Amino acid sequence: MTSRRFETKHSPLRRQLLQGGAAAVALAAAARFGAAAGSARKRFPKGFLWGAATAGHQVEGNNTNSDLWYLEHVKPTLFAEPSGDADDSFELWQVDLDIARSLGLNSFRFSLEWSRIEPEPGEFSIAMLDHYLRIIEGCRARGLAPMVTFNHFTVPRWFAARGGWTNPEAPSLFERYCERAARHLAGPISHATTLNEPELLRLLDWAGLPPAMLDVQSAMLDAAARSLGVAKFSSANSANHEDFDALQAGFLEGHRRGRQAIKAARPDLPVGVSLAIVDDQAVGERSRRDEKRAQVYGAWLEAVKGDDFVGVQNYERARIDEHGPLPAPDGVPRNSMGSEIYPASLANAVKYVHEQTGRPIIVTEHGLGTDDDAQRAAFIPAALAPLADVIAGGVPVLGYVHWTLLDNFEWIFGYKPHYGLCSVDRKTFKRTPKPSAQVFAAIARANALA
Ligand code: FCB
Repeated sequence: MTSRRFETKHSPLRRQLLQGGAAAVALAAAARFGAAAGSARKRFPKGFLWGAATAGHQVEGNNTNSDLWYLEHVKPTLFAEPSGDADDSFELWQVDLDIARSLGLNSFRFSLEWSRIEPEPGEFSIAMLDHYLRIIEGCRARGLAPMVTFNHFTVPRWFAARGGWTNPEAPSLFERYCERAARHLAGPISHATTLNEPELLRLLDWAGLPPAMLDVQSAMLDAAARSLGVAKFSSANSANHEDFDALQAGFLEGHRRGRQAIKAARPDLPVGVSLAIVDDQAVGERSRRDEKRAQVYGAWLEAVKGDDFVGVQNYERARIDEHGPLPAPDGVPRNSMGSEIYPASLANAVKYVHEQTGRPIIVTEHGLGTDDDAQRAAFIPAALAPLADVIAGGVPVLGYVHWTLLDNFEWIFGYKPHYGLCSVDRKTFKRTPKPSAQVFAAIARANALA
């Protein structure tokens, strides 16, 4: 299976690495952004975790018992296309771990699919728990510290059909699932996170979603509820505005109880939550920046104070004046989605979260959606150089996990956006590392920037 899809021993990636290709690409990359090149070699702390991330629904395929599978097929739907086979990582996870190892990484982040583990309320699948245990042990066998996200957006369809996270019983349902999963899996896990980006909807709300999109979302949720004959179908990232407070309350209590359940299974296992943090920059004296920060992150920056670490996920900056977010400045480099490429945002986001919480940080996601891999190759070292400076300045950052290992199903946008270090053939599922993977591998192996 492994050799059919990814030649670990004699892959083009390895060959290019041996020929010094990575160094050349990294240099060109650094020169492009004017970062790292010419500056002293920037080292990362000993034992720093270098990883790549995936999420179940985005790569496994055929996640048919999940809320999103249902929403992808209802009419109308907000999803550009269904997730289908995704990258077939449910079968090919060993290939994925082999790639991570071949890149010289020492950690791997992935998520459990709750809807496979608990297909009906209170009914747990030992076979599925064993499946995830094999992946966790597969990480260990390859020298990859397994970072496990207990819930990355998707929930079982039955959970969504009971009102999802807005249901007052949601936190105890999540607690029961975490308790059962942790009892089976916690032993060999290196780091656990309860939830992924639970404040994303408020963040998107500040970015200003098009009203037409919100109308389709609302019609999609109504159609799902109607076809299942339930009062309300609610999903982590598809929820109407009036549900935001209930959603946040459910997530906050869910995180607290989930953490408790995981800790009960293994008290020494580091547990946190991954937060979506934009580098928010104030423009002008009356900027609404702090209002945004209070609304989006406020409750979470309090909630994580009892956690072992905070997962920071950053993709961009936002400039905010007295009216709200500003468009990107003219002439800046842009990614495939048209957003500004701004490498310094990661270090700023990390610094902000540490200042606010005092907790150690793991960058659990950071990456670039682009069809031009040279942009990614340039972006990685350009973002890591200021991160190294922040670490040298005293912020405890334990690791950097790149989003993502493979091009995959990017939620409502389908398969069009490409965030992967590897491309994936949609018919054969063959994975092919891109040149940016070499750049990242060279940094991880050296534990330093050239
Ligand atoms: C993050 C999500 C991740 C992926 C990246 C591009 O918000 O956590 O699943 O979609 O964005």
